[in-house]
Parts: sequence; C-alpha cells; structure tokens
Amino acid sequence: MRIVVARDYEQMSRMAAIVVSSRVILQPNCVLGLATGSTPVGLYRNLVEFYRHGDLDFSRVTTFNLDEYVGLGPNHPCSYHRYMRENLFDHVNLRPERCHIPRGDAEDLEGECLRYEEEIRRAGGIDLQILGLGVDGHIGFNEPDVKFERRTSVVKLAESTIQANSRFFDGPDQVPRHAISMGIRTIMMARRIMLLASGPEKARAVRGAVMGEVTPSLPASVLQLHPNVTIIVDRDAASLIG
Ligand code: F6R
Repeated sequence: MRIVVARDYEQMSRMAAIVVSSRVILQPNCVLGLATGSTPVGLYRNLVEFYRHGDLDFSRVTTFNLDEYVGLGPNHPCSYHRYMRENLFDHVNLRPERCHIPRGDAEDLEGECLRYEEEIRRAGGIDLQILGLGVDGHIGFNEPDVKFERRTSVVKLAESTIQANSRFFDGPDQVPRHAISMGIRTIMMARRIMLLASGPEKARAVRGAVMGEVTPSLPASVLQLHPNVTIIVDRDAASLIG
C-alpha cells in the first residue's frame, strides 16, 4: 500500500488526475472504475483540463461506476448518472456506449446486478479503480459489516451515509435507502486501486483503512489485502496516521 499525503484537497486532486492520466496514456484502452461524491470532483475537473489541453484521449477507455441509488433514473438530478455527465462525461471524448453505471431504476434489480458484473468481466476487468471513503469506512456503498465476498448487489445505506449524503438532496428523507453497489469482491478484483480522502472527518476511516485490523466493520480495511493500492489523502485526512 502506497500512502501519499497531499498538502490539501487541490493537490490531492491534481495528484490523482496525474495517476489516472498516466494509466490512460500508457494503456489507451484501459478500464477505469469511477466513484462519485464530493471527493473526486477535483480529480474530474483536472482530467477535463488535461483533455482540453489535448493531453488525453478517452476514445478507447471504458468506465464502470461503483454505484447508483435504487429508484433514481438517469435523469434524476441526484442520480450518479447525472453527476458523471456533469462532472466528466459531457466534457471529454469518452464514448457513451463504453460508460457503464448500474441502473437504479431497473425493474429487475437482482438481474441488473448480475448483468453489471458480467459487463465488467466481458470488458476484461478493471485496470484502475478509483475509490472515495465514507466516514464509517465504506467503499462503494459497502457499509460496515459487509460480507467481503459480495459482488455487485443491492445494499442498504447506513443511517450515517443517508445523513452525510442528504446535502445533495432536499433533506435526509429524500435520500434513497438502497443502492446498487459493486461489492468488495468486485472492487478487490481490480488490478490497481486508488483511494482518495480529504478532510478531518475522514481521518478515523483512513487510519482504519491503512493500519487497523482487517475487519468488515471498517470495509476499507480490506484494501490492506490488495497487492496494488495507492492512497492519496490530504493532511487533514492523514492526521491520525502520523
Ligand atoms: C461514491 C461512493 C462512496 C463515496 C463515499 C465518500 O460513488 O461509492 O463510497 O466515495 O461516500 O463520499 P464523499 O466523497 O462525498 O465524501
């Protein structure tokens, strides 16, 4: 596990964009695993900038997002489909048919989970998975006490996640209670993983992820068992790891 401590959010975002760009430059047909939430917004902003400078070509890149809320269609303003269009997809030359996000409005949610896993397999697996980190240590929407062997499935959001994500909605009661999320097993199958965390509220989860016991009660701790993980955190998020 490589741990990189950035000065602040802006530097963390630039460093993360450099890591993703290197992958796209070295492997133009790579498969990227993408995250949403506040943390990767700066990363995507930098990638768009690199693209506008003519330094990046996404035309052969395939993407798979970690998760989507159950019940939200792709045009819902709080859906992760919409987030990805606004933050990345609409601004670079990714091909729409190569961008995958689970359908939270699928009629057959279990079937959608199986289909998603199969798409990842058919694409040859994920070359670089980007992760954010929940205050409770979740990755994707794999909440504490998750089963590590789980693949993409319908999951129940923890109360703390509902509260944390209510800032994107008109209040906590508007936040969907369930999501489709890649499972820990899906995430651990990625060939490389880059986890980003910023801000003091993530410090405890960062400590658990890098130096705590490997335990389902802090899902990100499983990353200690992966052979190729880079963690880029700002100083506030790194405050408890010395
Ligand atoms: C998002 C995701 C979540 C977030 C996590 C942190 O696709 O899977 O695990 O990465 O909840 O969210 P932020 O970055 O908003 O603090």
